[in-house]
Amino acid sequence: MTRVTVLPSCIEFEVSIGETLMGGAQARGLYWPTTCGGQAICTTCLTEIVSGGEALAEMGRSERKTLVSERGEAILRRPMRLACQSAVLSEGMITVNKPGVRSASEL
Ligand code: FES
Repeated sequence: MTRVTVLPSCIEFEVSIGETLMGGAQARGLYWPTTCGGQAICTTCLTEIVSGGEALAEMGRSERKTLVSERGEAILRRPMRLACQSAVLSEGMITVNKPGVRSASEL
């Protein structure tokens, strides 16, 4: 398991290897902002990786294509990932910054 801390809310949850940040959060009763439902289209799930990004799979072609088309080429120079596409590949600790993440029961 990999422990994920979400700032600024300081929500913590664990994800299994192979789960995405967003999918893992949703599976544990958390709301993660999304418009497309995790299809790498909307960029609403865009998340800053504060630390521990080495535990995530490298950015895939569809994620890169969506980021560049929706946010511009400069986004690739920042530690930003689509949470719906960021699969956890190894155990560790990841800290991200994503305002709006909260318990789904608070909706
Ligand atoms: S949820 Fe739409 S791109 Fe990730």
